[in-house]
Amino acid sequence: METKEAVQKKNGGALKLDTLKITDSRTGKEFEIPIDHETVKATDLRKIKVKDDDFGMMTYDPAFMNTASCKSRITFIDGDKGILRYRGYPIEQLAEKKSYLEVAYLVLYGELPNKTQYEEWENQVRFHTYLHENVKGLMESFRYDAHPMGIFVSVLAALSTFYPEAKHVLDPEVRRKQVWRLIGKVPTIAAWAYRHSIGLPYVYPENDLTYPENFLSMMFKVAEAKYKPDPVLVKALEVLFILHADHEQNCSANAMRSIGSSQVDPYCASAGAAAALYGPLHGGANEAVLRMLDEIGSMDKVPAFIKDVKDGKGKLMGFGHRVYKNYDPRAKIIKKMADQVFGVTGKNPKLEIALELERIALQDDYFVKRKLYPNVDFYSGLIYQAMKFPVDMFPVLFAIPRMSGWLAQWEEMLMDPEQKIARPRQMYLGSDKRDVN
Ligand code: ACO
Repeated sequence: METKEAVQKKNGGALKLDTLKITDSRTGKEFEIPIDHETVKATDLRKIKVKDDDFGMMTYDPAFMNTASCKSRITFIDGDKGILRYRGYPIEQLAEKKSYLEVAYLVLYGELPNKTQYEEWENQVRFHTYLHENVKGLMESFRYDAHPMGIFVSVLAALSTFYPEAKHVLDPEVRRKQVWRLIGKVPTIAAWAYRHSIGLPYVYPENDLTYPENFLSMMFKVAEAKYKPDPVLVKALEVLFILHADHEQNCSANAMRSIGSSQVDPYCASAGAAAALYGPLHGGANEAVLRMLDEIGSMDKVPAFIKDVKDGKGKLMGFGHRVYKNYDPRAKIIKKMADQVFGVTGKNPKLEIALELERIALQDDYFVKRKLYPNVDFYSGLIYQAMKFPVDMFPVLFAIPRMSGWLAQWEEMLMDPEQKIARPRQMYLGSDKRDVN
């Protein structure tokens, strides 16, 4: 693929882009549509008309199977090769060498922070971990068995009422502050939603702890003066947070951009994104994987389960991906890390069932033909469970680090002069005009 600049150089300064030639069989007319980065603009098709007053040609693409909704510089995925990079850095290197907060900074601001930038960033996030005391009242009003993701979504939306200035989304200073607040507060919201469900008092953030340590302390501290998590588990959580930070135009990022395009504040927009993440086909899949493994129960039931999936009686949760048609690189990293975690926590008994499912599926024609491989959610739940997180918390654990991706996508959308309020077209197939008797 040639960039505009390369084409310009080749043609001695003249910009002659590649084009797509279209012949309209209805009129015999020919149209030439410019190609940019292997993409044609859907609005360029509008000049294809039969009559002058026609609306013009549209594209039809339910579920955005083949539509680029934006230009982005945040995350690169090559689904066929199983490559994932944030701002150009391979996910494997970031997971090995960086902390989640460094990666969040990278995702948001485009570069890894230097020492001064990092200290300022970490401090700002730390200083914004507390929740307004009234939020506790809101949380307490939920039923004892409320799903923590429902609480999480509601509290995010409620925060917009605490920070009314957040609606000034075109002011960069206002945006900066809401980013600190949202990244800082999501672990507190998540941990308190859990404490609510088990009736334990809420634990306040402690500013001398790292981001993942602080979260573990707010989750699991009981009567000890200081909660001391195992460093292996802290590192595992750090890596899981890094792997979940962003994933380009996935369902929840698209929700964040779409809702944010109305210029609503980022609390309401991210509540919508979190709601999208909650679904079992997206961030709810790690929870669904564990429930599936429970349902299978033992190794000898795996072949029958696979047969049911092939007969269309359900899906193999944690398998398949819209973009990856190869092993999800995040699943590879998690699978490797699982042994270290299980060294501390003891093996999750469901691991054997998961490994057997993967072994059979990767050799089976049904899965091979459809290029279905384990995705990030296939193994993450096993680790979370071994770390004593309840299954209900899994989508919340996904949402905490994904906040950095949502906010990066939101800012990029707001700053993009080509973007407007997101408003797709439709093919209307309903009744023609008719009169009420
Ligand atoms: N188990 C069995 N068959 C599957 C699975 C699966 N997990 N995933 C896809 N297929 C089949 C489909 O039935 C379809 O078969 P067909 O061609 O005979 O009709 C074919 O593979 C293509 O699948 P689509 O549904 O068209 O793929 P799509 O890109 O729309 O869906 C998705 C991707 C939603 C992730 C899907 O693979 C799925 O539901 N997986 C299980 C849920 C899951 O793990 N989600 C997590 C995704 S990762 C994330 O959000 C972090």
